[in-house]
Amino acid sequence: MIISYVQTKGGTGKSTLALNTAFSRHLAGRFKSIALVELDPQGTLKNWWSERTELARDTGRVSFHHISSTQKEVFQDGIQSIAAHNQFIVMDIPGESTGKLHTRFACAVSDLVIIPMRTSTNDETAFADNLYPIIKDIIKVEPKKKNAFFVLPAFTYPQSKKQSIIDYFQDILPPNVSCMPAIYPHRSVYENFNREGSNLHEYARQVQNNKRYSRQALCAIEDVEDIAQTITRMWEN
Ligand SMILES: Nc1ncnc2c1ncn2[C@@H]1O[C@H](COP(=O)(O)OP(=O)(O)OP(=O)(O)O)[C@@H](O)[C@H]1O
Ligand SMILES: [Mg+2]
Repeated sequence: MIISYVQTKGGTGKSTLALNTAFSRHLAGRFKSIALVELDPQGTLKNWWSERTELARDTGRVSFHHISSTQKEVFQDGIQSIAAHNQFIVMDIPGESTGKLHTRFACAVSDLVIIPMRTSTNDETAFADNLYPIIKDIIKVEPKKKNAFFVLPAFTYPQSKKQSIIDYFQDILPPNVSCMPAIYPHRSVYENFNREGSNLHEYARQVQNNKRYSRQALCAIEDVEDIAQTITRMWEN
């Protein structure tokens, strides 16, 4: 199974979500081999993974792959060979204002495309102008992709009710894009956990003696587990 976090708008949590999904307990319990694939020339995850490697952190069932190219054939060959060796692939796609080459490729090749989006007029307009036209093109060529595109409400207030946020998106989303029945709340822990190549679980162990940080880390782990479970459930249905 291949999933991608896609959003042409920058800074919506794609890389953070991709690495945490790859390291979720849920996926580790269900798949023997999980590939975290970064298509981003910025190399956010590549740098993070190098820090993990330097500190010899245990990677469990997760392997990391960075594909940096502007050629469709290079992506295709890369993903094909990763798919031959991995049961589950999580792709991190860059926010792109021009060309949108990585976005197009990821949308075409993924079983599920997850679009982290804030409840803001800016994000909604950017989606309608930049990403939705690509989705429409892909569905035109491949109608079975109709059920592949999901918005994940992102940076939601931790106090907000999950169902009202989901209802809000269901109301405003265009045809063939649904709201995922999960949310990705705003939490300051997501800005700090990944120092020195840590993932959320490692961070939770590092702060276990600090009540406040530890509680935040556990809440974030719960967010991510819920997102990972929702992804496999959506895929099975
Ligand atoms: N749920 C969250 N709550 C608060 N901050 C977050 C959350 N998720 C990510 N962040 C922070 O927001 C910033 C952007 O996150 P991230 O790099 O994951 O976004 P991105 O969509 O991959 O960006 P780009 O489009 O540049 O690749 C980072 O500083 C990250 O630490
Ligand atoms: Mg990113």
